[in-house]
Amino acid sequence: MQILLHRQEIADAVQRMGKQISQDFAGQSVVLIGVLKGACLFLSDLARQIELNATFDFIAVRSYGTKKQTAGEVQLIKDVTTPLRDQNVILVEDILDTGLTLTFLRRHLQQHHPKSFKIAALLDKPSRRVAPVEADYVGFQIPDQFVVGYGLDHAERFRNLPDICVLEEGGQE
Ligand code: IMP
Ligand code: MG
Repeated sequence: MQILLHRQEIADAVQRMGKQISQDFAGQSVVLIGVLKGACLFLSDLARQIELNATFDFIAVRSYGTKKQTAGEVQLIKDVTTPLRDQNVILVEDILDTGLTLTFLRRHLQQHHPKSFKIAALLDKPSRRVAPVEADYVGFQIPDQFVVGYGLDHAERFRNLPDICVLEEGGQE
C-alpha cells in the first residue's frame, strides 16, 4: 500500500498538537476522551506529549452505513465513566470525515456540562463534510481518500500499521 503519512510525520504532528494543548491549558487539568477503537494509538501518543495533569476515558459508537462511510445514524455503545462536569474535555478522534460521529458525540458530551470542550482529530477530510463540525486541533488535512493504519481500519484490519496508507481501490463497498 502507498504511504500517505510516514510514522515520523505523524509523530511530529502529534508532538505539535500536544505542545499546543499544553500551552492552551497551562496550569489546568484535562480529560482526554478517546473514541474507540480508531483513536487508541493517537491518544496514547498524544497523551505523552501533553505536559499537564491529564486523565483518560473512552467512548464507543456504532455508525450504520458501509464499511467506508457513516450513513447518518450513530449509536452510543460505550459511555464514559469519568464525571465531566466542570472539566476541560478534549475529545480525541482518529479522523473527521462527514462529521456525523463528532456531531453526535459533541452533543452527547456537552450534556455532561464540561468547563470546556475541544476536539482533537489526527486527520481531517474537509471535502467530505456533511455536518458542520470542525476540530480545534488537527494533525493533517487530507484529500478524499480512504486511509488505514495508525489506528484506522477497514473492516477492523490494518489498525496496527505504523504509517497511514491509502487503501487500494476496491470500489466503495
Ligand atoms: P464521520 O462520522 O463520517 O466523520 O466518520 C468518522 C469515522 O469514520 C471515523 O471515526 C472512522 O472510524 C471512519 N472513517 C472515515 N474516514 C475513514 C478513512 O479514510 N479510513 C478509516 N476510517 C474512516
Ligand atoms: Mg472505523
